[in-house]
Amino acid sequence: MIRNRCSELTFAEAKKLLLQCTADEQLIKHCAAVSTKATQIASAIKKNGHTVNLEFVRVAALLHDIGRIKSHMNHGLVGGEIIRFLGYPRIAQAVERHGGKGFWAAGLENMTLEEKIIFYADKRVDGDKTVSIRERYDGLIQRRTAAGRAAEVPLIKKEFELSQRLESELNGLMRK
Ligand SMILES: [Fe+2]
Repeated sequence: MIRNRCSELTFAEAKKLLLQCTADEQLIKHCAAVSTKATQIASAIKKNGHTVNLEFVRVAALLHDIGRIKSHMNHGLVGGEIIRFLGYPRIAQAVERHGGKGFWAAGLENMTLEEKIIFYADKRVDGDKTVSIRERYDGLIQRRTAAGRAAEVPLIKKEFELSQRLESELNGLMRK
């Protein structure tokens, strides 16, 4: 698997890695759905003449939640650690920035287009179902509140606002 520490993973290698790490069907389906959604968005943007690395988006989106095999709290950072350890720092960074602490540490304005697409695609998929970002964040707020983590709701709402802004930006790139 670790042929060359500078190379990125192929999609087949990423899929093999994910399946080696987890047998959780829900998680695998979610990762596959986010990869498909992110690739669709990236393709539409590329068709409009913008530079975007489609294969990177497809692969990194597939691995975005790999940290959930160890922890649901801060799973972006945990996933980034796993991928970085395997020798793929660019994918690791995209995984870290897809949500939570890694996202806030980076700041949306500092993220690459590929990272933004992966972040956004994840907010358009609940389980393996495509939803609006409002539905996704409403679901998130309900689940956190039910889990006794209502203190996190203001930050989730703030993230929702940024996601709305990102949605406009990406829609603009898709429409041109
Ligand atoms: Fe996700």
